[in-house]
Amino acid sequence: MPRILRQLREEHADIARLMDILDRQLSLFAAGRRPDYDLVRRIIAYCLDYPAEIHHPKEDMVYRILAERDAELANAVGDLQLDHVRLAEKTRALAEAVREVLTEELVDRAWVHDLTDDFVQACRRHIRREEQQVFPAAEAVLTAADWASLETRIDRRDDPLFGKAVARHYRGLRDEIEALERLATEA
Ligand SMILES: [Fe+2]
Ligand SMILES: [Fe+2]
Repeated sequence: MPRILRQLREEHADIARLMDILDRQLSLFAAGRRPDYDLVRRIIAYCLDYPAEIHHPKEDMVYRILAERDAELANAVGDLQLDHVRLAEKTRALAEAVREVLTEELVDRAWVHDLTDDFVQACRRHIRREEQQVFPAAEAVLTAADWASLETRIDRRDDPLFGKAVARHYRGLRDEIEALERLATEA
């Protein structure tokens, strides 16, 4: 598998970890308990960082070539590219809602719950479609020369949260994610 696709899949697995954590926060709310809104805020802030700034643009570069080569896939690819724009909008709206919960008194928590739930489902749906439909097509259609050319053009910055060198401002979040995952597997 081309390195770029392997890395995109690894990044999906990392995003899925975050969606699982958000899901557990949603369950807390459903059980009448208070979610850790500050944790939710930090996860959403990360989603606006690496996934929105680096992960999606890398995919867009792959998708552009795929759409040029395969007219039948152009629609599916177009949907995913539109998803990137919509997901970014959903993420910003959720970031704003969580900010309100943390700073204002009278915020409808059920509304924030529903926004979060919608965001988690949209992310998972999007990733599923990429992995099941479009990544295999990209692997089949793009040539070694395409991948080599992409390698010279893509942004190769390392993930500041899940990468080898965790950025200072993400260290607390990374530790917390790992602690929560340990708790979840013990439970
Ligand atoms: Fe994507
Ligand atoms: Fe993706």
